[in-house]
Amino acid sequence: MADLDRKDSHLALCLAERVEFTSAGASGFRELRFEHDALPEIDKDAVSTEVRLLGKRLAAPLVVGAMTGGTPRAGELNRRLALAAEACGVAFALGSQRKMIGDPSTRGTYAVREAAPRLPLLFGNVGAVQLNYGVGVPELRRLIEAVGCDAFFFHLNPLQEAIQPEGDTRFSGLVSKLRAVVPELGVPVLLKEVGAGISRATALKIRELPVAGVEVSGTGGTSWSKIESLRTTDPVQRSTGELFARWGIPTPESIAICRSVLPDRVVIASGGIRNGIEVAKALALGADAAALALPFLRAADESVEAAVLAIRRVVEELRTTMFVTGCRTIPELAQRTLLRAPDPTADE
Ligand SMILES: Cc1cc2nc3c(=O)[nH]c(=O)nc-3n(C[C@H](O)[C@H](O)[C@H](O)COP(=O)(O)O)c2cc1C
Repeated sequence: MADLDRKDSHLALCLAERVEFTSAGASGFRELRFEHDALPEIDKDAVSTEVRLLGKRLAAPLVVGAMTGGTPRAGELNRRLALAAEACGVAFALGSQRKMIGDPSTRGTYAVREAAPRLPLLFGNVGAVQLNYGVGVPELRRLIEAVGCDAFFFHLNPLQEAIQPEGDTRFSGLVSKLRAVVPELGVPVLLKEVGAGISRATALKIRELPVAGVEVSGTGGTSWSKIESLRTTDPVQRSTGELFARWGIPTPESIAICRSVLPDRVVIASGGIRNGIEVAKALALGADAAALALPFLRAADESVEAAVLAIRRVVEELRTTMFVTGCRTIPELAQRTLLRAPDPTADE
């Protein structure tokens, strides 16, 4: 996900086209509801959204999801997103740094620590499949050092690569390569999907790896199959991409699977999470934090201020959910059970 033209065309499509699942509630959160508590027995001011994630203190369990880097436009979006994440005290994830491997002059487009030195938690990123295309420990260490990230994501995107005209589809042998490479990188490593979710079968393979955690990136939000189908001119690939636009594991299901298979690892929820009530549901299902990508990109395309407001809105919605369910802290929220019932707050 990192060529110059490709990255900018991804950004243009994500900002202008319908690249999300079209039906509201497609992520599955609509079928889950909190029990309202009219006697919560707490003061709203006492509600704290603070958490520790990977040893870092965050003002809320939120990550600005992995998206971009590598071109001047991407660099400006990274700068705005990182400033907003820093202002709100939440984590920030860089998009694929693959471009940096072949072209170190693009480093500045990922160097967000220079603009936002107090960012509490910064993730680096590259596709795991690159381990089959000549990327090894020295290149990965250089990527990590060049941006000073605290943790590193390998993204797993077989569906996207399959639909992408120029896709890297040699996915064999990655488990053993990850097992060898991960302990050599000097920072915690997590694996993430990009919108098709982590299934039980995948989580069981991940359990055998020395990784700190996963980001589920389930179905319901941005669809890379859809985006790649919009980019391709080949009619067969286009219709295949459209068919697979809804392929994968719904986000709530993927969170529950990952929590049960990986009880001691970090689980970050993502994929179609669009407000603070859904963040709260993700935490009640077992996630340690939630990432939103596309909504924050659209806000950052406007301005840093718009991105700050977008993050603040989600945090306030989370805080309000905690107040009306009687939860003073995030660990208390994590203990709440959700009813299997339609939630009228979800968009129709
Ligand atoms: C414009 C854009 C670019 C993305 N690029 C990357 C990437 O380079 N690496 C990655 O791991 N995920 C990438 N993603 C996937 C997101 O991190 C996230 O997993 C996915 O979009 C689901 O979240 P959402 O529904 O909130 O957008 C990208 C998403 C968007 C919208």
